[in-house]
Formats: sequence, C-alpha cells, structure tokens
Amino acid sequence: MPASTRELYQRHVLNTARRSLALARGEGARVWDEDGKRYLDLGGGIAVNCLGHAHPRLARTLADQAAALIHTSNLYHNAPAAKLAERLAGLLGGGKIFFTNSGAESNECLLKLARKAGDPAGKFEVIAALQSFHGRTFGGIAATGQEKMRAGFGPMLPGFIHVPFNDLAAVEAAMTPRTAAVLIEGIQGEGGVMPARADFLLGLRRLTRERGVMLLYDAVQCGHFRTGCYQSWQRILEGVPGGDGFRPDALSMAKSLGGGFPIGAAWISEEYENVLGPGSHNTTYGGGPLGCAAANTVLDVIEDENLAANIRARGDQLLAGLRPLAGSHGITDVRGFGGMIGVVLGHEGAADLATRLAEAGLVVVPAGTGVLRFLPPLNVTAAEIDEGVAIMWKTLG
Ligand SMILES: Cc1ncc(COP(=O)(O)O)c(C=O)c1O
Repeated sequence: MPASTRELYQRHVLNTARRSLALARGEGARVWDEDGKRYLDLGGGIAVNCLGHAHPRLARTLADQAAALIHTSNLYHNAPAAKLAERLAGLLGGGKIFFTNSGAESNECLLKLARKAGDPAGKFEVIAALQSFHGRTFGGIAATGQEKMRAGFGPMLPGFIHVPFNDLAAVEAAMTPRTAAVLIEGIQGEGGVMPARADFLLGLRRLTRERGVMLLYDAVQCGHFRTGCYQSWQRILEGVPGGDGFRPDALSMAKSLGGGFPIGAAWISEEYENVLGPGSHNTTYGGGPLGCAAANTVLDVIEDENLAANIRARGDQLLAGLRPLAGSHGITDVRGFGGMIGVVLGHEGAADLATRLAEAGLVVVPAGTGVLRFLPPLNVTAAEIDEGVAIMWKTLG
C-alpha cells in the first residue's frame, strides 16, 4: 500500500507545525479532505483565502497569466505589477510599493526602511508591542513581542524594545534619541485578535510625528478589507474625530493580497519613498507577473462583488451569534471586526477545541493557546455563518 499523505509528511517534512487534516480540494467556504469528508472553512487559510477556495475568476487569471508570462525577475517591468502598484498606492492616497513574497518579507522591508531612514541621525531602535507577531525571519522574530518565538535563536537582532499594546504612555517612555520607528499591528492576530484602540492609534500618530519617528503598520493579517474597510484603522477610527487624517508612514501586506497566491508588499509614504534607492533592497520573485495578476483579480472581485460590505455584515452576524457564548463554557470574550473574530477561551485549550470543531465539520484557527480565530473568506454567506455558529454551540454543548 502506498504511504499516506500524513506518513510522507512524517518522513520527509520538518515537524515545525501542528498539522491536522489532509485537505484535497475546496470550493468557496467548503473544503474536502482526502477521505471525502466536507468541512465549512471559516479559517480561510489563516486570513489568506479571501475569495474562498477555487474562485473561478482567480483560477482563470492564474491559468491565463501562466500561459503568457510567469516570471521575469526584478530586472524588467511587467504590466500586472505596474497596475497593482498603481491601485495599492491609490487606495493608500499616494506613496510607492515594494513587492515581496510573504508577510515576513514585507516587514523586513519596513524594518530596513526604518534603519536606513534613521541612519544619518544614528536612529535604529524599533518599539514594538508585546503579544505582537511579525513573522519568522530574524527581523520578524526580533520585532515579535512573544518570547517563545525567539527561544533558542539568539543572539537577537539588536534594537527592539517591547511595550504593552494599546499603552501610549509606555511607548512614550520607551522612546530615546535612537528611536527610529514604532511598529504595530492594527489588530493583533496571532496574539489573540486584539484590536488597537482608537485613542492609541491617534495618540501614536501624534507622538511619532512630534518625535520624528516613523509609524510602521503591520496589516498582513488585518488588512485588505478583512475588517470591512480596506485597512483596519479605517474601521477602528470610523466616526472618531481626527480619524480621517490617520495614515502610517509605511505598511506591510501579504495574506489576502493574493487570495492564496503567495505575494506580499510594503507600501511606503511619499515622505520616505526615496530612502531605499537602487541596489539597497530587493528580491528575485517580488512583483512577478503571476502573483500581481492574481492580486489584481482579487481586487477586481472584491470591488465587483461588494465584498467589503459583505464581510462587514457577516462579521456583525458572526459576533451576534458568538457573543452570547461569553460568560459560559469558560469563554471570557468574543471580539474583533468583520472577518477577524476571536473567541477568548479563558483556558489553554484552543488547539483541542479546534480539533473537536473539525471533527464536527468546522475549520477555524487557534491564535496562541487560548483564543480561537474565525477568519472566513470575504464572500462567506449568511447561511454559512449561521452554520458555523450552530456547529460552535453544538460542539461546546
Ligand atoms: C501580523 C502578521 N505579520 C506578519 C506575518 C508573517 O507573514 P508570513 O507568514 O506570510 O511571513 C503574519 C503571519 O501570520 C502576521 O499575522
């Protein structure tokens, strides 16, 4: 008998993740495992599959673009990248784009940008948040405010200071003449779906401007319409006086940007767009025509199918369905926006609960050990949300 997928993984793939199902195919918010069992996928490939699985327009774009031009390297121009950069910069009101292949690489670009911009003044320190997550590269783990991600990999890249999230006074107290940047996630994802407070965002923007410090925004998980707005600050600051003027100095993106095709990007505001000049930073695959064509189609579908409004409504529905769980079953809180909702368990059983939910036909994603994350596709339907909520209630008993 040939070895199973699980057996081949055990023999040949590094054991760096707690893997569960062996998935074979998907359609919309449904996935099937190798035995043909069907699941409702409200984990979205950890906030990546924003159009669900096998969206016909995305599949067609990938096939058409692959038949025309897959890769060129960064030595040449290509039309899909030019168009995507124009659209992303347009959404952010100006500035320029550096294309990458993942979230960690997008953050590397932000960190190198901050050091290069700060270098003439001897500024290199970055203040980041406790419980943050910024990726698994050396820059990423140094920036990440979780000791367990760094354990055994020392010595760390120097110059990172961690302070409690949503604590403006702590950021101010950590600032020194060497501070180059403050780096935050708009909504901490891996840290347990913890949104930035409006007053924290506005206070940070004011403080960083006053001190000549860059404000770097990691939108890898919470960006790209996941909250019902293009960027999470637009949702968090909605209706808040002064909120319209908020914009970070640079931003990292990946995950939903390609809807499943691996592509990332860093956006850099006009003020800093000339800091990284020719030869200062690059990547072979960044801005390839295949990934950029995919990302353009993702944006087209989000616009054409009005998915920002959909995920906003579906998120409200999901919150309404899950919130009554708080206070029972050990659940202490249900929080988040749109397609980024966290169920805070009040115990360390997130992985075990995710396994029980999968057995019951629902795929969701743990965040750390104590929070369960719902990261559904932006085109999830009202019936699918109802179904997911029902499975959750039934499984909790
Ligand atoms: C906020 C945030 N930043 C960065 C990353 C790293 O992205 P990638 O895994 O694509 O390198 C992640 C991944 O979960 C993330 O959630």
